[in-house]
Amino acid sequence: MEVVNVFKDFYNNTVQLSFLDHPFSKSPKHVWVICRYKDRWLLTDHKERGIEFPGGKVEPGETAEQAAVREVMEETGATVNKLHYIGQYKVDGRYETVIKNVYYAEIDELIPQSTYYETKGPVFLKNIPANVKRKTDFSFIMKDTVLESCLLRIKKSYV
Ligand code: GTP
Repeated sequence: MEVVNVFKDFYNNTVQLSFLDHPFSKSPKHVWVICRYKDRWLLTDHKERGIEFPGGKVEPGETAEQAAVREVMEETGATVNKLHYIGQYKVDGRYETVIKNVYYAEIDELIPQSTYYETKGPVFLKNIPANVKRKTDFSFIMKDTVLESCLLRIKKSYV
């Protein structure tokens, strides 16, 4: 694969994805965490966007890794056992540029939460549907090449 893979997302924004070590920013403001619990993928159901892997913004004073662990807990109740850096992507949106670290998280246990914030909590999937791009119950962030490229890497190295 090229060092940087360039494509359009669901909203036709340009995305650059790379598996190099933090190619776009050493301190990205966003994280996205592909989670696995036992023999299932662990996702969350965002109230507006739909089903997606958990993630969000890095808060002031936090590292990206800390944000990844926190977001997984907030949105699914899961405790991260191991966190692996996978890559980084940059979305040139209409109004802003978003740089996100992608991680693969191995999950230890799930603790039921009283709130899952802006999500409806954990969703377990044996397989990510092949036609996810056409499924209205899935989030737009699951509908570009980032997901399939990262899943390929993760399956090769960890699953
Ligand atoms: P909140 O402040 O949490 O409401 O977020 P926001 O709606 O301002 O969005 P955010 O700053 O997270 O992202 C801004 C824009 O970048 C979004 O509207 C999307 O178009 C784009 N974006 C953010 N995350 C992703 C992503 O994971 N994949 C893709 N393709 N685009 C994204």
